[in-house]
Amino acid sequence: MSKKTIHPAKVLAGGVAPPGDKSISHRYAMLAGIAEGSSELSNFALAADCHSTLDCMKSLGAEVRVENTLVRVTGRGLHGLKSSWRALDAGNSGTTIRLLSGILAGQSFTTKIAGDDSLNKRPMKRILTPLREMGAQISARDDNFAPLEIRGGKLHGIHYEMPMASAQVKSAVLLAGLFAEGETAVTEPARTRDHTELALEEFGVPIERHGRTIRFRADGIKLTGRQAEVPGDLSSAVFFIAAASLFPDSSLHIQGVGLNPTRTAILDVFARMGASIQMLSLRSVQGEVIGDIAVKGAHLRGGVIAGAEIPLVIDELPMLAALGPFTEAGIEIRDAAELRVKESDRIAALAENLRRMGATVEERSDGLKVAGRSAGKLRGAEIEPRGDHRIAMAFAVAALAAETPTTIRDAQCAGVSYPAFYDDLARVAER
Ligand code: S3P
Repeated sequence: MSKKTIHPAKVLAGGVAPPGDKSISHRYAMLAGIAEGSSELSNFALAADCHSTLDCMKSLGAEVRVENTLVRVTGRGLHGLKSSWRALDAGNSGTTIRLLSGILAGQSFTTKIAGDDSLNKRPMKRILTPLREMGAQISARDDNFAPLEIRGGKLHGIHYEMPMASAQVKSAVLLAGLFAEGETAVTEPARTRDHTELALEEFGVPIERHGRTIRFRADGIKLTGRQAEVPGDLSSAVFFIAAASLFPDSSLHIQGVGLNPTRTAILDVFARMGASIQMLSLRSVQGEVIGDIAVKGAHLRGGVIAGAEIPLVIDELPMLAALGPFTEAGIEIRDAAELRVKESDRIAALAENLRRMGATVEERSDGLKVAGRSAGKLRGAEIEPRGDHRIAMAFAVAALAAETPTTIRDAQCAGVSYPAFYDDLARVAER
């Protein structure tokens, strides 16, 4: 599949179960690899990104067996990984390279790790600084970009006051802390997803949390392999929440979605905009919350997304921006310069493709303002997702409510997080 044509739809109906959560799958795969004994991870993400993590763990000596969404990992223990004879390939995945760097910093060998062209352009200084403070020796292209060469060794705990709200940076420090002497603590300037803290606890590491500070001592600890179920990915579910909201007669049931409170700010944003969303059948697995989401069509008001909310909805901003032209007041996103260093420059990619569909957009350094319904209807267009899965999926959804068909170039890039996306969308979107 290189191009995908999306036809206008009339309604979304039926049920969909998004694939396993990408963030959680990465963490379980890494922790299972450094745990003692075997782990069985069910509903593991089919996302290409998480398979990059599994491949890296294999290269470092963990035994990994994959049967569709069931992944069995036999861990090597905290000190049992072996050096990889070739450079590790993190593919398109920022989470793989940044989190794994924390683990690699504590090894008694040197590892090279890099990714694809997009990943090799994304900033790594944010993890180099704290990992070096902990005692790791790391070299990077221009001291900021992959390939990274990480010479691990004895680490010492630090109290890191994070200059930015990033779950990936927090996690890199916490994972390095597993190999450090003394206490490791991280204080985040604003709340970010806490899957690493929950996963560490599940694998047997006692963590203390007070406000925005997380601390633990690794002395004498070990991780124990376990069975774990990965909740469905809310960030993938969001494309269906958005799509269903676009048509007044929609009624969609989204099953088995992760509803960890550090991820659900997006549901608050939708609610504020007037979406009709209900959470059902909530239960807890391994400290994570899972439930179903029922969505009905709505008249979306639009609004502003800014400030401390941004890190909590960072992955959902492409979808929100692409909904702008279908809302009453339009969508304005501020304080989100971080979007420029994701899998693509998402601000530029959104502005370009929204304009291709006829939307009125003001592009700013830290966000964008997309005019609402009164600026006119969207027409079908040829979308250039710049290799970015979330841009491709956001515009596939916007295309459902455009006046004419839309073509998504390089559409298979959606597989980075959601390989079955177009099939699932076609099943619930009725023409
Ligand atoms: C992620 C954290 C976020 C997010 C990314 C996944 C994670 O990145 O954008 O898709 O799993 O920790 P930052 O923490 O760098 O903002």
